[in-house]
Amino acid sequence: MASKHKFYYKTTGVWHKTNPMPRNMNLHFINSTEGWIYFVNKGKTGTFNNKGKAIHDFIETSVIRGNEKKYGIHPTQKPEVLFEHFVNLLSNENDVILDPFMGSGTAGIVSKRLNRNFVGCEIDKEYFKIATNRIEETLEQQIAIDLD
Ligand SMILES: C[S@@+](CC[C@H](N)C(=O)[O-])C[C@H]1O[C@@H](n2cnc3c(N)ncnc32)[C@H](O)[C@@H]1O
Repeated sequence: MASKHKFYYKTTGVWHKTNPMPRNMNLHFINSTEGWIYFVNKGKTGTFNNKGKAIHDFIETSVIRGNEKKYGIHPTQKPEVLFEHFVNLLSNENDVILDPFMGSGTAGIVSKRLNRNFVGCEIDKEYFKIATNRIEETLEQQIAIDLD
């Protein structure tokens, strides 16, 4: 299906959470990883800002910090530092980042902070409100920084 739409498969990687919820830890393994898949559209190479460093297909961070939840709770909210890694590496300033399932808007906040344009979709009205509040706060902080 991907190749039919001109997406070229590159990598499957892993995000490891250093402090996952230890649910049923005496019954089975703690669920501490999520996968990600990297495709490039229309070609075989895309932006890859590795600055000469070897970048592994494994990234490790803690789950979200308390201050990232201040606009409400989204059950699968990702840490900003995780998305910063991918936005920095795989796009350039003024590029457009699209997140068709933006949830609490983490990709939007990070995109604006890193001077990318952002388009997001979210089907749930409550999550959409959380996302827009978080993104608007980032924009206000940016305007304040610009004025300084
Ligand atoms: C895994 S969550 C995204 C979490 C997000 N990365 C964050 O950091 O908060 C996926 C989101 O996609 C939304 N969603 C599911 N189907 C959708 C659709 N057809 N159109 C738009 N959003 C949808 C869900 O409501 C959910 O909030």
